[in-house]
Amino acid sequence: MAQVCQHVLMAEERLEGGYLDGAVRVGDTVRRPAGPWTPAVHALLAYLADQSFTGASRPLGFDEQGREVLTFLKGETIGHRKPRPAWVYADDTLVQVARWMRDYHQIAADFVPPPGAVWREGGTWSPGLIIAHNDATTHNAAWHQGKLTGFFDWDFAGPATPEWDLALAAFAWVPLHVRYVVAAEGFTDFVARPRRLDRFLGTYGWGRRYPRRGRRGRRAVRATAPPGRARRHRRGPRRPGELLPAVARSASRMPA
Ligand SMILES: Nc1ncnc2c1ncn2[C@@H]1O[C@H](COP(=O)(O)OP(=O)(O)O)[C@@H](O)[C@H]1O
Ligand SMILES: [Mg+2]
Repeated sequence: MAQVCQHVLMAEERLEGGYLDGAVRVGDTVRRPAGPWTPAVHALLAYLADQSFTGASRPLGFDEQGREVLTFLKGETIGHRKPRPAWVYADDTLVQVARWMRDYHQIAADFVPPPGAVWREGGTWSPGLIIAHNDATTHNAAWHQGKLTGFFDWDFAGPATPEWDLALAAFAWVPLHVRYVVAAEGFTDFVARPRRLDRFLGTYGWGRRYPRRGRRGRRAVRATAPPGRARRHRRGPRRPGELLPAVARSASRMPA
């Protein structure tokens, strides 16, 4: 991905809300500091774009300052706002996020990373894993006119199980953090949490053979996994109990 974007004299608008302190908007593009993991992330994003997946930015290479260049996802983002805007915890948003993740995992199940791909958190892809977003939280979503535009900030993308990605998203969107934390963010309907978790997992298709692998992914699993494991990969994770440890691990990664 040695593409270098042409220098165009356009105003840079600093984008609020990140931790890197470096995302700027230039026209319909976003420029962000790049890292050793960026080429692998761009390979994933280019694959998603080729598959006509619109819920993520298209990668446009690097600019003259070495920053990554991506298409801008239209819409409102939460930045550091507390409490969150009302759409964040609306039931319909929960459904849209679960659908986004279902569609994303479906496509990602057939993505085979380039050889030697470097991911920010390390790890190596092998059949049975996907390249997960790993940070599909409320901070990284764009929302436009009642619709989820998609998720940005793919810096933590890397090899993981689909249920790990799902658990992290459930943790953020149900939300599942301790009461005082979610209350400060504007969520106080605590009794609704089991129903919301159920709705989230149900919409994703948890336990209904998701994610289904495409032909290429199935072939890759068959080629390298022992027969018992291959069967399990094809079936996908389905026991709720398998999800809970992942939720717990995700919880430990969330800032208090
Ligand atoms: N592709 C994008 N489309 C639209 N907005 C973006 C995009 N990437 C980043 N942003 C904006 O920039 C802010 C910070 O970017 P982010 O990628 O989340 O940085 P960080 O890695 O520091 O969390 C976000 O809150 C969002 O408003
Ligand atoms: Mg972010």
